[in-house]
Amino acid sequence: MRYLTFALGKGRLANETLKLFEKIGITCEEMKDESSRKLIFTNEALKLKFFLSKGPDVPTYVEYGAADIGIVGKDTILEEGRKVHEVLDLGFGKCRMCVCGYKNAAPLLKHHELIRVATKYPNITRDYFYNTKHQTVEIIKLNGSIELAPIVGLSEVIVDIVETGSTLRENGLEILEEVCPLSARMIVNPVTMRMEGERIKNLIMRLRAQV
Ligand code: PRP
Repeated sequence: MRYLTFALGKGRLANETLKLFEKIGITCEEMKDESSRKLIFTNEALKLKFFLSKGPDVPTYVEYGAADIGIVGKDTILEEGRKVHEVLDLGFGKCRMCVCGYKNAAPLLKHHELIRVATKYPNITRDYFYNTKHQTVEIIKLNGSIELAPIVGLSEVIVDIVETGSTLRENGLEILEEVCPLSARMIVNPVTMRMEGERIKNLIMRLRAQV
């Protein structure tokens, strides 16, 4: 039996994933040692390997087959646009991709105005404004703290993830439109899907029973 390799997005998502995997008897003790600098972890008995990477790199590893399976947010899957099969919604990491801004920016979204939109997600933003809303906008790519953009006058609105809504609230901003719901998803390399179909189907079935 060959190894199946999992790429997990670093951070909260990986912790939730390991908890879920434990419920179906998949454990990786080595990975729990936070002081370890090891990059790849093995469960010899089950012939599984795991590694952690930056979220946006997970679909890249899976498309190229360096990982067979990835666990990553739907936001990252949409933004990266890699050739992978999305096979399961894991039900955690639930949040929403939204257009946000000051309340008085709402009319700018109704009249096809040429506005500036700041975001960490230029592809999702382009798709939403150009293909769904048919509004031409100037997209400004940022790498974090996106809520700052309308506050300091960089852009009229932002496209960003809203989870509890407290970042918006504490900064006087609001959700103006919802782009799409998000959560953690399992993705699979297309070749693995064909070659290891039974193992993958079995894994999906056991995970689905838990989510
Ligand atoms: C994310 C997102 C929002 C915030 C939303 O940022 O970009 O800023 O969380 O969460 P809330 O609705 O519960 O307030 P993150 O903390 O990942 O950091 P970033 O600003 O560097 O993107």
